Amino acid sequence: MTDLETTAALPVLATLETKTAAETRLLGQALAPFLKAGDLLILEGELGAGKTTFTQGLGAGLQVQQRVTSPTFIIARTHPVAPGSGLVPLVHVDAYRLQAGDDIESLDLDSALEDSIVVVEWGKGKAEGISPHTLMVEIARPETTLPPGSDFADIPEDTPCVLTFRASAGAWDLSGLPAAWEALVRQA
Ligand SMILES: Nc1ncnc2c1ncn2[C@@H]1O[C@H](COP(=O)(O)OP(=O)(O)OP(=O)(O)O)[C@@H](O)[C@H]1O
Ligand SMILES: [Mg+2]
Repeated sequence: MTDLETTAALPVLATLETKTAAETRLLGQALAPFLKAGDLLILEGELGAGKTTFTQGLGAGLQVQQRVTSPTFIIARTHPVAPGSGLVPLVHVDAYRLQAGDDIESLDLDSALEDSIVVVEWGKGKAEGISPHTLMVEIARPETTLPPGSDFADIPEDTPCVLTFRASAGAWDLSGLPAAWEALVRQA
């Protein structure tokens, strides 16, 4: 099976369309209560699809310290939580330049997963198997919104994005996610 077919075969837990970057952030925020230490999120989507934007919201929902920014140049960044708060830290990885195998193993995400939630942008084909409880989040912009020949720089602010949540490993129940997100959008 090709990579695409493998992903398509995973059970879809939710498919949601966001109309703005703020809505994508709120979707990340809404996902936070569904996660626990040891969970791995693999984020897929083209350059500028909204993976970091989604992770910013997740960081807000997890109440981590430090604003979430792209970890491109440092590869992995740990966002701690207030000591004694009972909150769970977030480890944010950009695997764009990493190869499957040694490169990703050198980050020692196994240890990070003992007490943190780990999010890996560009992790498909590289990070599977690291955790028995893994969620795949694919972020796509419907092709019709960008004219042919466009690139990242041409992406207008606030374009519709479709986020598809799939169970990559372990049992997941995200049935409450759409309502939790809609409630946050209404309050915003
Ligand atoms: N509906 C939307 N959801 C998320 N981001 C959006 C949306 N509409 C517009 N944007 C914009 O698209 C850009 C997404 O950038 P972001 O850094 O999150 O992408 P990325 O997938 O992490 O890119 P990279 O592959 O370079 O890491 C931001 O500038 C954001 O404001
Ligand atoms: Mg990014």
